Amino acid sequence: MREKNATITVIRMADRIRFVLNDQPVEIDVLSPMTTLLDWLRDHRGLKGTKEGCAEGDCGACTVVLERADGRREAMNSCIALLGQIDGQAVRTVEGLRRPDGTPHPVQAAMAEADATQCGFCTPGFVMSAYAFAAGGEKADLETVHDALAGNLCRCTGYRPIVEAMTRIAGLPIDPAAVAPGRPGSVSFGTFHVPRSLGELLALRARHPDALLLAGATDLGLLASRSRKPPAAVIHVAHVPELTAIREDEKEITIGAAATYAQAMPLLIAHHPALKPYLARLGSRQIRTMGTIGGNLGTASPIGDMPPVLLALETRLALTSPRGTRDLALEDFFLGYRKTALAPDEVIQSLTLPKLWPGEVFFCDKLSKRRDQDISTVAAGYRLRVTKGKIEDVRVGFGGMAATPRRASHVEQALKDQPFSPAAFESAAAAVARDFQPIDDWRGSASYRLTAAANLLRRLYWRIAEPQRAVEVEAL
Ligand SMILES: Cc1cc2nc3c(=O)[nH]c(=O)nc-3n(C[C@H](O)[C@H](O)[C@H](O)COP(=O)(O)OP(=O)(O)OC[C@H]3O[C@@H](n4cnc5c(N)ncnc54)[C@H](O)[C@@H]3O)c2cc1C
Ligand code: FES
Ligand code: FES
Repeated sequence: MREKNATITVIRMADRIRFVLNDQPVEIDVLSPMTTLLDWLRDHRGLKGTKEGCAEGDCGACTVVLERADGRREAMNSCIALLGQIDGQAVRTVEGLRRPDGTPHPVQAAMAEADATQCGFCTPGFVMSAYAFAAGGEKADLETVHDALAGNLCRCTGYRPIVEAMTRIAGLPIDPAAVAPGRPGSVSFGTFHVPRSLGELLALRARHPDALLLAGATDLGLLASRSRKPPAAVIHVAHVPELTAIREDEKEITIGAAATYAQAMPLLIAHHPALKPYLARLGSRQIRTMGTIGGNLGTASPIGDMPPVLLALETRLALTSPRGTRDLALEDFFLGYRKTALAPDEVIQSLTLPKLWPGEVFFCDKLSKRRDQDISTVAAGYRLRVTKGKIEDVRVGFGGMAATPRRASHVEQALKDQPFSPAAFESAAAAVARDFQPIDDWRGSASYRLTAAANLLRRLYWRIAEPQRAVEVEAL
């Protein structure tokens, strides 16, 4: 059991954290903004319906729902969210579902009727995920239900009644979302700084060189929840419009580094359908509500899911500082284990991916010990252009194979300018061991990683050559 509030510093803030909780306005002026939302709900607000299971974003017992200004409702993990992140937002907990006459919400009633309440400890989290699912007006097909529930663990493994409840919940009429109060300008809660323009962000970075950049906190939030050692100071980039914009033109897609996965996914998937099943396995909906691609790159983990894909798609980064914006190829960003080319005064502003050329295809793979909610053992992205039976261009990115995510240059050489044939992919498979000397760890041995990566390349041939057969084989 974690020691409660071991490192929470109580401070009087010049600015108050303001948000809407269960339709009621809330103001907080005496508490650390680094307190997790979960601790605040349970220990300071007395709302014990939201549970703590793992305290690291994995189990979903702490799920609450963000009610966005545009009416979207998104499930999120309150255990790894910092209170300062909630300023200006509207949040609903399980207590906020109760009807004015005291009767359960239709989502709760549907869970009870389907015998899906079970142990009771995980149930509030399931209910909140189900509430967000119902509010999204989604269909109750198995794939969607699975996706909506992937961030909620049931340790008694009684998922069947919960899935059954979801079929009843789909299409239930849901009340309009609460109105998020918003916040017009920049604000600081003690050492939690929230700029609302790029200029203010850069000025804060210069003024507070030791403050950590904080986007969705799905990595950094673990310092506050699991380790109980929250960062001393942060600059929260989630409300800087220059970092959240998403746009496309004829040639390329540009995604703000602080756009959440939930915001970026529709455009990414529209251009690269292979990303749909891949991104569905990046954390869970709760993680994708808050997490950002900029955070995934900033973390620079060798097993982050976005770098292999973005390397294959020839992504370029816009890195901005008071000196201006420089353009850097993603492959030059990762310098060593969790070491990047980001200068101390820089932020990742956005990433730009060229669109596919005619004849180009893109695929990706993620291998992990568990299908859902698991970090990759090996991840890969591939972009190939095949013209008249010849591989004219190829880019292959791998994660989990070295200290940094990297392109596989020998693999690429083995494929480039070769006839598109099983033999070319066999040579590529053989080249994997020249590109990488992976490590052994509990996720996978070095030999597993080498064998798996080689086999992914062999399978890639069939995915391109005989897509239908590849789909059938993968479904086995
Ligand atoms: C339960 C769980 C499951 C997860 N599953 C996956 C998974 O399947 N695959 C995967 O790849 N990851 C996974 N993650 C890790 C995490 O969700 C991702 O790395 C996510 O993209 C981090 O984004 P964030 O916005 O939350 O980053 P934050 O935690 O806010 O920040 C992460 C790092 O990036 C830096 N940073 C943030 N924004 C910028 C910026 N604009 N410029 C420069 N630096 C910046 C921060 O300073 C920090 O060092 C998981 C995490 C959890 C808790
Ligand atoms: S307590 Fe497990 S995800 Fe938050
Ligand atoms: S519902 Fe809680 S363990 Fe299954």
